[in-house]
Amino acid sequence: MTSLFDPVTVGAVELPHRVLMAPLTRMRASQPGDVPNDLMREHYVQRAGAGLIVSEGTQISPDGKGYMDTPGIHSAEQVAGWRRITDAVHAAGGRIAAQLWHTGRVSHESFHDGRLPVSASATPYRNRTTVRGEDGRPTRVPCPTPRALATEEIPRVVEDYRQATVNARDAGFDLVEIHAAHGYLLHQFLAADSNRRTDAYGGPLARRARLTLDVLDAVVEAWDTGHVGVRISPIGAFNGLDDPDGAAAGLHLAAAFAERGIAFLHLSEPDWAGGPQLDDSYREALRAEFPGVIIGAGNYDVAKAERLLAAGLIDAAAFGRPFIANPDLPARLAVGAPLNEPDLASFYGGGAAGYTDYPTLAAVR
Ligand code: FNR
Repeated sequence: MTSLFDPVTVGAVELPHRVLMAPLTRMRASQPGDVPNDLMREHYVQRAGAGLIVSEGTQISPDGKGYMDTPGIHSAEQVAGWRRITDAVHAAGGRIAAQLWHTGRVSHESFHDGRLPVSASATPYRNRTTVRGEDGRPTRVPCPTPRALATEEIPRVVEDYRQATVNARDAGFDLVEIHAAHGYLLHQFLAADSNRRTDAYGGPLARRARLTLDVLDAVVEAWDTGHVGVRISPIGAFNGLDDPDGAAAGLHLAAAFAERGIAFLHLSEPDWAGGPQLDDSYREALRAEFPGVIIGAGNYDVAKAERLLAAGLIDAAAFGRPFIANPDLPARLAVGAPLNEPDLASFYGGGAAGYTDYPTLAAVR
């Protein structure tokens, strides 16, 4: 029977085991320029024992930024910063994917020289994002009603994803993951509630899904199917988006991913964020559409991961908060060692505290 500690092939990349690090925004990039830095390198190197690290969400363009101090992958300085991180992760024996991100309406005009953030439609996200306050510390502010992208602007967004993929490759990443989950730009196009468009990118599901698939095709063209995966969150409320058609949208995308033969589908499950438990009938439906590698994430522990692996419903599990607090998580899970508890107050923004100072088991002993 397959175990979490068996190797697995994800597209063009061989992973030594199936305990993966989920993408985790930590808002510690250097300013000006949203540049990956030495502190981030230390954080990722400490976690190089993951079967695969998926990087924090990384904006594909200045327009794609939605939170303070998140890193980008659109400037030469950012690519050089990431190169120092991927080299160090590889030297430590690890593998790392870049998560390609455009936050769409989950953003603020202060990131865009006073211009409104863009989305599928001018439908507001009635919630807040994080900017730098006057005291320099993270402050929560309401998101403005966004501006709808004009049809003529969409090729530019697709091109930004393509260029970001070229940049990720140049930066030494092993794979890219397109972030199509959690209420960000691609999800805003997918969900009817946030997409009221009447052009070829709005209306029935196939048209709402088109931007995600146009982006996927451009990203595959820039690299190849063996180096590309997509993260989706079909069920549950994330960042103000709770798509009543989400289940169908997830299956539609999974079928399109299978047709293209991409490296993996990363399923973000909603229960950790207050949503419902995903039931096995949905997992089975997703598996029927997508025979490739499925990564499950959201409130996983060894028991949940092993059960779903044995049932053939996932191929690997990604851990978020446990990896924040336990740099040596796979080693701890392998022996059933106790886990450090994550400190929520240091999740977003700040320095080394709560970021690179969690002890390994060896250090504790
Ligand atoms: C996240 N998550 C997340 N997801 C994503 O796709 N891109 C991201 O940048 C982030 N950032 C992020 C930051 C922090 C601090 C948390 C806690 C979560 C979601 C994450 O990848 C994962 O799906 C959840 O944390 C659920 O998994 P766990 O924590 O229950 O293992």
